[in-house]
Amino acid sequence: MPANVPQLDVQFLRDQFPVFQHPDYGAWAYMENAGGSHVPRQVADALSRALTLTKVQPYYPYGPSRDMGEAMDRATAFTAEMLNVPEGARVVFGPSTTLNMYMIAEGLRPSLKPGDEIIVTNQEHEANGGAWRRLADEVEGVRLKEWRVDGKTGRLSLDDLRALLTDKTRLLAFTHCSNVVGEMNDARAATALAHEAGGRVVIDGVAYAPHRVPDFAAIGADAYCYSAYKTFAVHQGVMAVRDDWLEGLENQGHFFNGAYPGMKLVPAGPQHGEIAAMNGLQAFYGDLYTHHFGAAPQGKANEWAGAVHDMIHAHEVVIAAPLLAFLREEPRIRLIGPQEIAFGNRAPTISFTVKGVSAGDVTNHLAAAKIGAGTGHFYAWRLMEALGIKPEDGVVRVSLVAYNTEDEVARAIAAIKAAL
Ligand SMILES: Cc1ncc(COP(=O)(O)O)c(C=O)c1O
Repeated sequence: MPANVPQLDVQFLRDQFPVFQHPDYGAWAYMENAGGSHVPRQVADALSRALTLTKVQPYYPYGPSRDMGEAMDRATAFTAEMLNVPEGARVVFGPSTTLNMYMIAEGLRPSLKPGDEIIVTNQEHEANGGAWRRLADEVEGVRLKEWRVDGKTGRLSLDDLRALLTDKTRLLAFTHCSNVVGEMNDARAATALAHEAGGRVVIDGVAYAPHRVPDFAAIGADAYCYSAYKTFAVHQGVMAVRDDWLEGLENQGHFFNGAYPGMKLVPAGPQHGEIAAMNGLQAFYGDLYTHHFGAAPQGKANEWAGAVHDMIHAHEVVIAAPLLAFLREEPRIRLIGPQEIAFGNRAPTISFTVKGVSAGDVTNHLAAAKIGAGTGHFYAWRLMEALGIKPEDGVVRVSLVAYNTEDEVARAIAAIKAAL
């Protein structure tokens, strides 16, 4: 764990979320956060401002239009700084990660040639699998190679990746953290290996970004995508992409927009208010920083928002540990992914099956204890098959995030015991 991480004041953090003030909705413990997290008031306020005051076409030379454009520019600059997107790369917002991946894949299509190899994992949410598999199916001579998980644990190994890479590798697509297995994969090492082989790298950071701030420059990928609605903001996809790769991708937008790199992969108009709402995320992280560090944030957002997330992740480690300990010690339970949590090895996204009890039964018990959790394949269909779990049955997923508490986790353990 990084040095000098203050303890998260969970109550202060929860006070930022209107839902926890509500007599009914506030009584629930939310443990399906890998599906989507709640939104703090700062984000709701930023969206509300955009929708109620400046909802005009941006970038025209009159006041409200200028304000809207300026809010979008600020939000984009903050997001790029938070993700440590260097010179020569940019942040682009699209409707969702699934669509962003699809657009990158379509952009890549014309440059693929027979003999090219694309490597995908079977740990993926289908968003970062289907688009690449389809390319390999449809472009003659392109070969798909699968970087496979261990069928027992669901984990990926870099040695297996090494064995797949060749000088024909055009692309490696993998997840920074599976939304089921929960392990934080070594994105930097996998990227370096693919680059050594001469391939480009696309990473799905959707299940990682709610827990730690991704560092695009340090990872070194060509594109990194995640979904802001899982990271306390609104429903849209964020992608960081290197310009030298973007340049070679085919324009997916209107022909006259092809000259603008930021528009090439976003055929629809940008979601103005949703982009501007990222300013609310800056305010939320800023308030957390000031409360815990005793001064307003200064310097690069990747560092100060990163410090806020270190504090959040340290809290996640503390609250997830007892749940993991209970699950791994219970003989009827199969716990997927890393069995223990330490700072930076896994997200508190915890999936399991129970011998003799359906996943749905377990979530019913959790719901009876006023705990919201999910069950299913979570669009990681191929992973379910690799683990020998019928996708229709799926797993129970208890997915914790910053605002969950030790008491809530104790309630969840009691409810799972009752289900057994
Ligand atoms: C790991 C992961 N990748 C990709 C996606 C797809 O994101 P979006 O809903 O923005 O298309 C999800 C959504 O749940 C996900 O969990």
